Amino acid sequence: MRIIFFAGKGGVGKTSVAAATGMATSARGCRTLIMSLDVAHSLADIFDLERGLLDQHRGRPVKVRPNLWIQELDIQEEIDRNWGEIHRYLSGLLNTTGLNEVLAEELAVLPGMEEVSLLLYINRYTRERRFDALLLDCAPTGESLRFISIPTTLEWYMKKIFKLERTIVRCARPLAKRLTDVPLPGEEYFTAVERLFLRLEGVDRILSDPALTTVRLVTNPEKVVIKETQRAFMYFCLYRMSIDAVIMNRMLPSGIRDGFFSDWLYSQSRYAELARTYFHPVPVFPVNLFQGEILGPERLAALAAEIYGERDPLQRFYEEEPYRLIKEEGRYRLQLKLPFVVKESIDLSKVADELILRIGSYKRHILLPKPLVATSSVTARVDPPYLNILFGGDGS
Ligand SMILES: Nc1ncnc2c1ncn2[C@@H]1O[C@H](COP(=O)(O)OP(=O)(O)OP(=O)(O)O)[C@@H](O)[C@H]1O
Ligand SMILES: [Mg+2]
Repeated sequence: MRIIFFAGKGGVGKTSVAAATGMATSARGCRTLIMSLDVAHSLADIFDLERGLLDQHRGRPVKVRPNLWIQELDIQEEIDRNWGEIHRYLSGLLNTTGLNEVLAEELAVLPGMEEVSLLLYINRYTRERRFDALLLDCAPTGESLRFISIPTTLEWYMKKIFKLERTIVRCARPLAKRLTDVPLPGEEYFTAVERLFLRLEGVDRILSDPALTTVRLVTNPEKVVIKETQRAFMYFCLYRMSIDAVIMNRMLPSGIRDGFFSDWLYSQSRYAELARTYFHPVPVFPVNLFQGEILGPERLAALAAEIYGERDPLQRFYEEEPYRLIKEEGRYRLQLKLPFVVKESIDLSKVADELILRIGSYKRHILLPKPLVATSSVTARVDPPYLNILFGGDGS
């Protein structure tokens, strides 16, 4: 089985590329599911399907061709399926704080519920082996990257906070009842959180297993878009997800003669070249701008041919793992592939059995393996494209 995420800035062509990839893999006989995490849900439109067809399926997979299904998550359905108790508690809580019921129900959709629902599906489909390929059409990177941090954040929360919180609430409940109207979460709430966590178990291993899961970053040959792609690249690496290709979409065909486009042609070729050096050794696949929009199966198949040529789209185009723990001369070194990182932006702290790595506005808790817990000093060393974290001794 293979799982491929298609991520990138808004409007770069993620949905088109994910759909095109699905056309190619299903034509090769792989049972393929394309899932959309994007609330705008444009998958059905790109396949030129009747909207009603998807609405009838209420967020479940819909077969669109032999071997090809699409699924657009419907948050309301997901809440009914997965979030019952949790949503009930939160909307009850907001309700007692004076909000009317309808608004309280709306607000009780926590940020992240959609993403967790997606992770639940990934976990389930991977176990069930119902599909050979899961292709994930992500929301634009600015807002969607949060989902990758969810498994580690949840693990951290369950290990560090959950039990404590449950105990405190148990003890405080009788007192709180006398003092305030605000309801404390009941046992059902905690059981529901626990159950949800259990159903998510293992998904972080699925996401960080490069043999199974890779990310393809879709980008355009423009400065701002490439900058955002670099940030996304680093963020995926930070969360141990392996990027196996960058798809440089919307390149103007070089045959264009019109003088109007000459500046575009020049700047595009420059940015495409820069991207090749930035993302090296991850391969960059250039894709030409099509004449007109890409709608319907035939155009999608043509897009797939343009992206992959004769290659199998499920192949891993780049295989190095983004994380490595190395022992040398009695010292441990955690090597993370983090291109584009500068030493000044790194902030490292070690608290008991976890390492907190902050890079600009990104933060990650890394639960340390046993041999590293006891070491006192931790230092960072940037050897592009790697960030080395050295345990014990000085890292200069
Ligand atoms: N290579 C291409 N040639 C011509 N048109 C393209 C190409 N790639 C994408 N498009 C068109 O650009 C538009 C946006 O593409 P798409 O919806 O795939 O982007 P997206 O990254 O998923 O956007 P969003 O961030 O809004 O989800 C669509 O109309 C699509 O047909
Ligand atoms: Mg899209």
